[in-house]
Amino acid sequence: MLVKRLQKALLALSLVAGGAQASPARVRLENRAASFDYKSQIVRGVNLGGWLVTEPWITPSIYDNAGGGAVDEWTLSQILGATEARSRLSAHWSSFISQDDFNRIAQAGLNHVRIPIGYWAVAPIEGEPYVDGQLEFLDNAINWARGAGLKVIVDLHGAPGSQNGFDNSGHRGAIQWQQGSSVNQTVVAFDVLARRYIQSDVVTAIEALNEPFVPGGVNEDGLKGYYYSVLSDLQNVNPGAALFMSDGFQAVDSWNGFMQGSDVVMDTHHYQVFDNGLLSMGIDDHVKTACSLATQHLVRSDKPVVVGEWTGALTDCAKYLNGVGNAARYDGTYQSTTRLGDCANKATGSSANLSPDEKANTRRFIEAQLEAYEMKSGWLFWTWKTEGAPGWDMQDLLAQGLFPNPPTDRQYPKQC
Ligand SMILES: *[C@@H]1O[C@H](CO)[C@@H](O)[C@H](O)[C@H]1NC(C)=O
Repeated sequence: MLVKRLQKALLALSLVAGGAQASPARVRLENRAASFDYKSQIVRGVNLGGWLVTEPWITPSIYDNAGGGAVDEWTLSQILGATEARSRLSAHWSSFISQDDFNRIAQAGLNHVRIPIGYWAVAPIEGEPYVDGQLEFLDNAINWARGAGLKVIVDLHGAPGSQNGFDNSGHRGAIQWQQGSSVNQTVVAFDVLARRYIQSDVVTAIEALNEPFVPGGVNEDGLKGYYYSVLSDLQNVNPGAALFMSDGFQAVDSWNGFMQGSDVVMDTHHYQVFDNGLLSMGIDDHVKTACSLATQHLVRSDKPVVVGEWTGALTDCAKYLNGVGNAARYDGTYQSTTRLGDCANKATGSSANLSPDEKANTRRFIEAQLEAYEMKSGWLFWTWKTEGAPGWDMQDLLAQGLFPNPPTDRQYPKQC
């Protein structure tokens, strides 16, 4: 074993010998090769959503307690004012996630966490209402991950101007990311993360930007330009980490040819609850839809592909899921005149309150997705913890036996 390791080290040295001495960058590259190889290993992970970037539906109490009008972290901070916002958010950051969560994630057989963070935590912009202070908790998280033997994907979840107009970007409404100097400010935020989280034994990847919404108006050539900028930055300052790139809601295999051969991983997200056609399907079709994502797109990609967000939920009933003030398509109270069913036991609380059929369907749907996504490079469930969103809360699903533990356990084998 020792001899083998020495041979490897000598090989690494001889590979760089042409360029005189081994640079520190080369040493980190060698570390990373031993740490996680996205081309050959399977990601099994979970997102720490709603922690360092809050979302109304993950922690409704923070939003309800602000007294109305808060629909995203921008308006929450605006309404509370900086002092009060910092105090309430700090209390949340320091209590929502701890070492214990990392230990339980590892005990559930996972090897990764993806941690969303907003630009306002790393490169705040003068005059905006956001408050910062999240980074010391992200630093803690990386130590907790190391303690639990987990890898971390640091995910830039919100960009200046908002890259998608969703509340989870920090600022719901217009997409203004590609206006003014916002893209350049995003590169600055990425650079801060890439320099700070250089411990490649734990932070194995940094995600360029979560869900830039190409169908909503983000210019794809501009997005590619941004990806080239941050890849070059990462290669300069932290070549130990892989670059994760969202597919921008385009078929993931439509990115074939782009950056092929670089240390990049595509991130695609799969939900079947934000569209009336998908919501109206029975469980067999939900399963088929997940399986065909894998067979029609994931396995056809020329790069590793991780399904970086997905859920066990089969409805959009969770309180505030469609945004504060918007109800649910499923019960016909939002963007629909067709009522498909009742949201009563699916809006809040535990998945323990689902009917026996709904429970069986949830477990079956989760297993089908695990099977499908492991045909390529793996998955990260959305999300680890909520205040009560049935189907979305992995620790609740584990407790109810609706999420397989270990994740390879099957009650419904070979669905795809
Ligand atoms: C963004 O940065 C690039 C490269 O440094 C520069 O050429 C460009 O003018 C900047 N754009 C804006 C809008 O500041």
